[in-house]
Amino acid sequence: MNWPHVIEIITPAWRRLVIRSVAARPLATLIRSSLQTDGPAYQSLAESIRRLIADGRLLDGTRLPSERELTTALGVSRTTVAAAYARLREQGYLLSRRGAGSVVQLPGNRVSAGPLSPEPSADVIDLSIAAPPAVPGLAALYESALQRLPLAAQGSGYAPWGLGELRQAIADRYVQRGLPTEPEQILVTSGALSAMSVVFHALAGPGDRVMVESPTYPNALAAVRASGARPVGVLGVSERLDPDAVELTLRQQSPGLAYLILDFHNPTGALADEPTRARLARATARQRCQVIADESLVELDLATPDERPIVAYGAYDRTSIAVGSLSKAVWGGLRIGWIRVPPRDLTAVRRTLLSLELGAATLEQLVAVEAFSRFDVLVAERRASQRASRDALVTALHDLRPDWGFTVPRGGTSLWCNLPAPRGSELCQAAFEHGVRLAPGASFGVDGGLESWVRIPYTLPPDTLRTAVERLGTAWDSMIGRPARAAEPPALIA
Ligand SMILES: Cc1ncc(COP(=O)(O)O)c(C=O)c1O
Repeated sequence: MNWPHVIEIITPAWRRLVIRSVAARPLATLIRSSLQTDGPAYQSLAESIRRLIADGRLLDGTRLPSERELTTALGVSRTTVAAAYARLREQGYLLSRRGAGSVVQLPGNRVSAGPLSPEPSADVIDLSIAAPPAVPGLAALYESALQRLPLAAQGSGYAPWGLGELRQAIADRYVQRGLPTEPEQILVTSGALSAMSVVFHALAGPGDRVMVESPTYPNALAAVRASGARPVGVLGVSERLDPDAVELTLRQQSPGLAYLILDFHNPTGALADEPTRARLARATARQRCQVIADESLVELDLATPDERPIVAYGAYDRTSIAVGSLSKAVWGGLRIGWIRVPPRDLTAVRRTLLSLELGAATLEQLVAVEAFSRFDVLVAERRASQRASRDALVTALHDLRPDWGFTVPRGGTSLWCNLPAPRGSELCQAAFEHGVRLAPGASFGVDGGLESWVRIPYTLPPDTLRTAVERLGTAWDSMIGRPARAAEPPALIA
């Protein structure tokens, strides 16, 4: 009997859980990479699997190999594996049914959406929003836009696809980034989140699967769910997208859509290299999965100032849809984003857009036109200040918390920090008591988990970031001596 048939004859709750599986050999490799050798063998094995679950490398609902298969792959005794599985069951990390295998579950680790209480005072450093303040000169952009307003105001003010001049400027930027684009393919929205919501509503239906990275941008997960679709996480390591894991997920889950952040990922900061993009394009085409590339952070390249712009993913995959935004490059308060749609999907996406919004505000679109007219200068300034903040945060962490691991990203807005113990949500709670609001790794996981991680943005000035790291260090030291307890994430994470 193959696995799907087994699922059919067991309970609905069980069926909800079982959505993916991991084979014995890859699991053995993951286990060996994190195995501690002290203590009884079964305890080390259980602890290693528990850490893989807490880190989000094994997702909620993943079926583990049978005891016999894992015994062979690891070359240990059957008793060791049986005892390790039994321990994980006791701890609530595994659910086993006779004849149907063992499935990972997260004990009481569903992330709830309530706000942190009490409300933060003015002294709280807010690291839950990874967005910089407006570029210098924003007021001048508004003044220039105001001068054009009387002419624009002669029309009705309704331009649901966006002002022609702005659509042209956005299309021109795609051309600079190696992707021929007509202004007709651009639909202006009020921000990238609106843009992706339109796309999910247009192209995904109830019950459809949308492949996402885990971790990923939490509001995108909410947007997928709001369309009725179900996000399915790519298995694998939590720091960068693994093309092998993508291929496996495509084969196992057959998602019709994939939502990916390939450019300075939020929260990891990772940039997908060219071979990865090319492989993604081939793999998704093979499995008839359409990619929605979120390019909100693409302009925040902190490499060298004269670096050429990053080639748009659409240049590798002509069927993909892109969503973009001025929120990170210019200012989040503008609320200007867009969708770049391949011709075959234009009608469906336009129709859906009209059911959800009637276009972005005219004055802000005029400001965006002004911003594009001096984009290189604005982006250079943005990159310089982001670079200074990133470097200050890296130095502060190296000085004050050398045991917190991270890869310094080439761009984006945040460091994805690996803590010495899987207590990220608790750290965020303790940090709040010490005057820092922070987003736990669990908020970025498709099914929670990721308890060994926190996202630390570098969108505040260098001195503030150093103070924040000092407070985070005190918070960590204050909680690490006491037993683990449950904690709630902030209500809004951006
Ligand atoms: C990856 C990603 N996409 C989209 C957004 C939302 O962008 P906007 O402000 O344009 O709606 C954010 C904001 O943090 C983000 O990080």
